[in-house]
Amino acid sequence: MKFEDLIKPKTTVEFMEKFNNSETFVIKGNKNKFNKLITLEEIESVVNNGCNFSTPLEIIIDGGRKFYVEKNIPWTQFATKKSVIKQLLEKKHSFLMRNQSQINSKVSALITSIEKTFNFSADLHLYISPVVSGSGYNAHRDRPQHKIYLQVMGKTNWTIFNYNNNLPENVHALSEEEEVKYLNKLMSIELEPGDLLYMPPDTFHKVRNYNEPRISFSIPFNKVDDKFKKMDRTYIPFKKIFESNL
Ligand SMILES: [Fe+2]
Repeated sequence: MKFEDLIKPKTTVEFMEKFNNSETFVIKGNKNKFNKLITLEEIESVVNNGCNFSTPLEIIIDGGRKFYVEKNIPWTQFATKKSVIKQLLEKKHSFLMRNQSQINSKVSALITSIEKTFNFSADLHLYISPVVSGSGYNAHRDRPQHKIYLQVMGKTNWTIFNYNNNLPENVHALSEEEEVKYLNKLMSIELEPGDLLYMPPDTFHKVRNYNEPRISFSIPFNKVDDKFKKMDRTYIPFKKIFESNL
């Protein structure tokens, strides 16, 4: 899937018009639109790689996120505490896995296509709620990255806010009590499977899921200077290489 297919029925020109206007908008899609991008087996495989030290799974808890890792193990730098994570997932905690732009070749091709369209650098963060009513972050804003968010399975409910002039520049997240003081609700969005949301940098948002498990792709992308080296996502056809010498 390339960027043009991702945003259908919108065209790149239509997308860019809203993008350049800093608009938050949704592109509704068929419920199966993103089905083939990832499988539950692929997610299960990365979740079980407890020694994946550059991107351990993070649990969404108390309105933020947290690593559960064991350090000072003789045979590795650190490893995830998988028994703790298993329990937290069963207790309705959502989780996030960053840097998954190479989880399979289809995802790699999509993320690379986004990079080429914008001449930006892009990544993929997986947000997953394995059980209904999973935990979510407090209202927050992400900077400097733009965001394309894909609802792959299940639904999410989004609240988008405007912020008041009294909001300190260095504040990125607000508790529920602080929302009243600094934020005004701008819109409420229900994302269903197949929907895409675009959100400009600096947009305050809060996401919740309720009635079913969900899988979401959060694709941050931002401008980088020309010297920035983009990620090398060359596909290594291991099986083909191996079998060619049998
Ligand atoms: Fe966010």
